Formats: sequence, C-alpha cells, structure tokens
Amino acid sequence: MGMRARAVYRVSQAWHLLTARVQPEEQPFIDTLLPPAGRALFVTMSAGDQRHCLNVCYALKEQGCSDANLLAAALLHDVGKGGGRVRFWMRPVLVLLRALAPGLLHWLAESPDPFWRRPFYAAWQHANVGADLAAAAGLPTRVVLLIRTHPDPHGPAAPLHAVDDQY
Ligand SMILES: [Fe+2]
Repeated sequence: MGMRARAVYRVSQAWHLLTARVQPEEQPFIDTLLPPAGRALFVTMSAGDQRHCLNVCYALKEQGCSDANLLAAALLHDVGKGGGRVRFWMRPVLVLLRALAPGLLHWLAESPDPFWRRPFYAAWQHANVGADLAAAAGLPTRVVLLIRTHPDPHGPAAPLHAVDDQY
C-alpha cells in the first residue's frame, strides 16, 4: 500500500473507531489482565482508544501470545493519550501529518508551548506519559517498560508495535 493510500486507510479506520465501543461482555477478559488500578487507568482513555487497545490485545492473543505482561501493556499502551491529553479526533490529523508533512508534525510536537502545540507534544510523548501513569498506579515494572518502549519496532514490545498500526 502506498503512503497516501495507507493514510486514507488509517483515517477511515480512525473514524470507524470513533463509533466503536468496548462491550460489557468483554469486561471479564480485561479484568483477568489488569488489576483494579490498571482498570481505573483503562477507562481514562476515550471509548475509541479503549476499543483500539483491546483489539491490539486480541490480535496478540490470536498470534499465540500468552505473556500476561505484554497483554496488559497492550491494554494500556495508549493510556498516555487518555484523560483528554490527546483527543481522539487528533488521530486522523496525526496520521495525515505523519504521512504528508512529517517535518511539520515534528516541529509541532517539539514543545508543549504554546497551548495549541500541546496535543501534538502529548501525542509524541504518549508512551512516556502512559508508562509514568502505569508506574504511579503500581503496575509491574515489566508492564511499565513495555508501555514505554511500544513505539520502538525493535524494542521488547516489538510484537505489540507490529500489530498497533493494524487495529
Ligand atoms: Fe496504539
């Protein structure tokens, strides 16, 4: 898929996620992977990001992953975008900028100031923000590390990174 076709695909996927919801019958699965403090973090994400994280977690499981820490990290990997730090409508904007104007995106994301740069900065830093939140919530060190490194295609969370863009 070309860069532009991929951008169009990601935008339509992002808008689809805006209407997707985690279903009540999926809650027991979440409860087996996250302690109460982790569940409290999970629900700080937008409904679309919750759906995305759950889909990434399912994808890892379908690949045969049984690493409870990696599955927990999948559920929380975008928690740094939660709490309104990165609004969900930002996702297609980010996808388009990354594909069509990466230099502009990099410039926008360099600083949290002035205020209109903050969502771009938060999106850029979301792995570190999320890892710090997970650490503060008392999640296992390994889960914190996997959240922090999930943007790295060659890091310890490489399997998570590999499916992140697909869901
Ligand atoms: Fe993600």
